[in-house]
Amino acid sequence: MQLLSSTSSTITLAFLLLAASGPALAEGNPEAGKVVFNQCLACHTIDAGGPNHSVGPNLHGIFGKPAASNRSDFDYSSDLRAAGLVWDDATLDAWIRNPAAVLPNTRMEFLGLPKKDQREDLLAYMKTVLR
Ligand code: HEC
Repeated sequence: MQLLSSTSSTITLAFLLLAASGPALAEGNPEAGKVVFNQCLACHTIDAGGPNHSVGPNLHGIFGKPAASNRSDFDYSSDLRAAGLVWDDATLDAWIRNPAAVLPNTRMEFLGLPKKDQREDLLAYMKTVLR
């Protein structure tokens, strides 16, 4: 267990350093992002104060929050709880790009969005509805 959690912290740290040194994200198009976000709605709800989806947590209010802290009524994985991530543009971009690259044992079974412009659009949309 100790080995597992220190391995995932090392991966997370290496990943954050990479994300922090990468090029800044451009502003995306929220209308295009809304269409991309339909993939997320398979597992997430977004209404303020609303219930969680049966698969994943409600995402309203995640900007600026430590990972796994937004909803006290969702059973996050122990890896997400221990990740030490705070959700901002860089960490969300990395997560959406490939959640398993950030946390190999996350419960979010989503292959990720390799296209940077899609992620920029998605983040622009998420800012309009999640905060
Ligand atoms: C197949 C289901 C599924 C899909 C599709 C999915 N997610 Fe998730 N997501 C989850 C689950 C389950 C978790 C909890 C992960 C854990 O506890 O390890 C999660 C966690 C998250 C978190 C962390 C929430 C918190 O409170 O810390 C964010 C942010 C997130 N997802 C964003 C997205 C976005 C954006 C998309 C679309 C690009 C997406 N997810 C697609 C299932 C999914």
